[in-house]
Amino acid sequence: MLIRQSGDVPASEITPREIYRERRRFMQGMGALAAGALLGSAADAQAGARLTGVRASPYTLNEEKTPYRDVTTYNNFYEFGTGKSDPSENAGSLKTRPWTVAIEGEVGRPGTYDIDTLLKLAPLEERVYRMRCVEGWSMVIPWIGFPLSQLIRRAAPTGNARYVEFVTLDDPGQMPGQRSHVLDWPYVEGLRMDEAMHPLTILAVGLYGEVLPNQNGAPIRLVVPWKYGFKSAKSLVRIRFVEKQPLTTWMRAAPREYGFYSNVNPHVDHPRWSQAKERRIGEFFKRDTLMFNGYGAQVAQLYRGMDLQRYF
Ligand code: MTE
Repeated sequence: MLIRQSGDVPASEITPREIYRERRRFMQGMGALAAGALLGSAADAQAGARLTGVRASPYTLNEEKTPYRDVTTYNNFYEFGTGKSDPSENAGSLKTRPWTVAIEGEVGRPGTYDIDTLLKLAPLEERVYRMRCVEGWSMVIPWIGFPLSQLIRRAAPTGNARYVEFVTLDDPGQMPGQRSHVLDWPYVEGLRMDEAMHPLTILAVGLYGEVLPNQNGAPIRLVVPWKYGFKSAKSLVRIRFVEKQPLTTWMRAAPREYGFYSNVNPHVDHPRWSQAKERRIGEFFKRDTLMFNGYGAQVAQLYRGMDLQRYF
């Protein structure tokens, strides 16, 4: 048996999860109180700080949530490395204040929003969503955010705005994974305008009642629950309204494997593996993958008449 000195063992490994979380929260609360006294609202920026005034949403699932530990330690965020634990281990170097998001392109009201202004743009809601990664695993995550449509309405898109492009921060100093050329940086994603306006599409700023941890895409990320997880771009700095379909990072990397739409679809396999089943993190037996990740009643009409084998 491997014996380690107690100093090597993270608290999370030797303390039952709930106690660990409560203690962490308590200490963060104390930290936030102390910082709040000095900095005012800047304390709200801290990952893990409680978000207040969050309301319930009708667009929420009543399904068992994936434990906080898994949601925040089993991640894909290649800007911090390609291993599942790399983001939680390395994303501490990301500075989420000050932070701005530029609204550009085919809009009547372009501009640059400070993140704290964005946070006050619309009431925050909790949305428990099923999330399905293209790799074959899934989670149920209680996001906190607001509909992207609220921001889009404010930006007043012109008649030429047919697509929306989402761009992640490009800063190898803060994002060590960007020093490797595993992807073409910055990370770019895109949605058709009607997908972006759909009430299920949100900008998330928190999860499990707290400010978003860096590894989950702080301070603001896209969440599109009926598409594979890679469409939900993290740590956004630019939202651009465009006429032509954006070339996304994954389409550029492997066009045969990753299409623009990337709707969860058990009938369209990835060229290298089946998408018929998925493993819900924390469960042993695989589940059947659901068409549109189970959101068909809400979104199927967006794709009526489209050949989803071709537009994968
Ligand atoms: N966004 C950026 N900027 N970089 C990434 O590597 N990975 C995507 C998506 N957003 C990724 C990203 C993938 S593949 C998935 S499955 C989800 O983030 C994972 O989100 P989560 O770690 O919050 O569960």
